[in-house]
Amino acid sequence: MTSWDKYAGKARGWSEQEYARADAYLSHRAELVRSLGPALRAGDVVLDLACGDGGLGDFLPEQRYVGVDASEEMVAAGRERGRELVHADLNDYEPPQPVQATTIFRAIYYARDRRKLFERIAGYTERKLVFDVNPRQYRLEEVRADLRAAGLDRLETRPFFVPQTRALPLLKLFERRPLLARLLLRYRFTLLCAASRRAGAS
Ligand SMILES: C[S@@+](CC[C@H](N)C(=O)[O-])C[C@H]1O[C@@H](n2cnc3c(N)ncnc32)[C@H](O)[C@@H]1O
Repeated sequence: MTSWDKYAGKARGWSEQEYARADAYLSHRAELVRSLGPALRAGDVVLDLACGDGGLGDFLPEQRYVGVDASEEMVAAGRERGRELVHADLNDYEPPQPVQATTIFRAIYYARDRRKLFERIAGYTERKLVFDVNPRQYRLEEVRADLRAAGLDRLETRPFFVPQTRALPLLKLFERRPLLARLLLRYRFTLLCAASRRAGAS
């Protein structure tokens, strides 16, 4: 059994069925992909590893969005919605040309070896790596150490408070309230991380 088998039956309509309000959820994620850490520019390539059906691409119209997923069914569903998708395992994939940003959402646990994956990604990513972590499952300091080992020594984080299964639009306001955010993160939700090199570092 592979880590992607269980997604085959959910591939068609993934984004719309997985999120209570896919537009609110994915547009906020896209906004943070653009703005957290070094900003993205028009024309930049965003490589989304373990992309599902590539729904995030609908909200990055100024960038070139390329998704990668190991599930054939997800790749087919993404292509049906008009996305550029590659069928590959995120642990082995290398794009033919460097990309400006790489993203991984709800899939960092599919890294066979997280530090090696970050090193591989740092090799082909020019500006930043953006991903989410559940801080109740992973220690941020350990994630930071793996990023540093890959040369990504600058890390910016932001709580992500758009719920998956319910529409609670006002909750997003708490993302910028550090004390409330820390409290909420103890019980639910994820942290978005943007890792990059310090200015001047190659
Ligand atoms: C929880 S879904 C997340 C999909 C999308 N990123 C999102 O946030 O909606 C996890 C995705 O990871 C894919 N996946 C699992 N293992 C993988 C691997 N080793 N390489 C690439 N994709 C993988 C699955 O097929 C599935 O589409």
